Amino acid sequence: MPSTDGININTENFLSTLRTSFIGRRTYLYQTVESTQTIALSLAEQQTDNLHGTVIVAEHQTKGRGRMGRSWISPFGGIWLSIILKPKIKNSQITVLPLLSALSVCDVIKKMTKLNAKLKWPNDVVIDGRKVSGILLDLSTEADKIDFVVIGIGVNVNIDIKKINSDIVKSAGFYDITSLQNELHGKEIEKFDFIRLLLENIERYVFQLENEGAREIIKKCKKISDTLGKEVIVKQSNEILQGVAVDMDENDGFLLIETPYGRIHKVVSGDVISTNITKK
Ligand code: BTN
Repeated sequence: MPSTDGININTENFLSTLRTSFIGRRTYLYQTVESTQTIALSLAEQQTDNLHGTVIVAEHQTKGRGRMGRSWISPFGGIWLSIILKPKIKNSQITVLPLLSALSVCDVIKKMTKLNAKLKWPNDVVIDGRKVSGILLDLSTEADKIDFVVIGIGVNVNIDIKKINSDIVKSAGFYDITSLQNELHGKEIEKFDFIRLLLENIERYVFQLENEGAREIIKKCKKISDTLGKEVIVKQSNEILQGVAVDMDENDGFLLIETPYGRIHKVVSGDVISTNITKK
């Protein structure tokens, strides 16, 4: 049990409807926290047993963390959760975890709303180019072994984006943001149904990754990619790369970019700015 005062929602019938074998069997729900990611990380550092699949959910975060040191604005109405995993995968497959999480978010959005959610490489989910969800991965490795990973998932669900000040736009990175409520013209979504389906999807894909490798998962990511085939600019820590996003590596999901000189670059991570110019 985390040292902080989360309500264990196993007692609130969550478990009886959750069809997973490990993800979410221990789920802790908080009203307001600084960051579910911080709670999950400190829990994983303090305790080693029974961690696999533990989920921390909060209604509201005051210091939500985004990628690349950015902050992540997390008002009431969104889904803010972190999942602790000790997956049996190779270190080289870690990059598939955020991809399969984003894929799972897309699957659930499509299933619950019929909205055309797409995956913007590496970890964002967009609807008509507007960001609705972001994924953050923190990991702890020892020598050649993954100790644990924490997957942080934020989804703008029942949030009126127009009412949020411009900070949220900055926190999303370089492009527009949206929420499911905005895309659905004010209609609200049942958040715990969303969480249940999300955890079920993620568990299915984690099993698939552990048992069959990444190939089928990457195939699905490619099908719903908002990045492939477009002219992109990739901003990495000390480099800016421009070219066409031509493919994703089938083993690790890295983005393959063809530069104007015909060279293929393998991109591991970074912020991708799509230009919306599609190259055939
Ligand atoms: C991004 O920059 O796109 C990643 C955003 C990840 C936000 C989620 S919300 C739940 C978890 N807790 C955090 O503090 N961050 C992640």
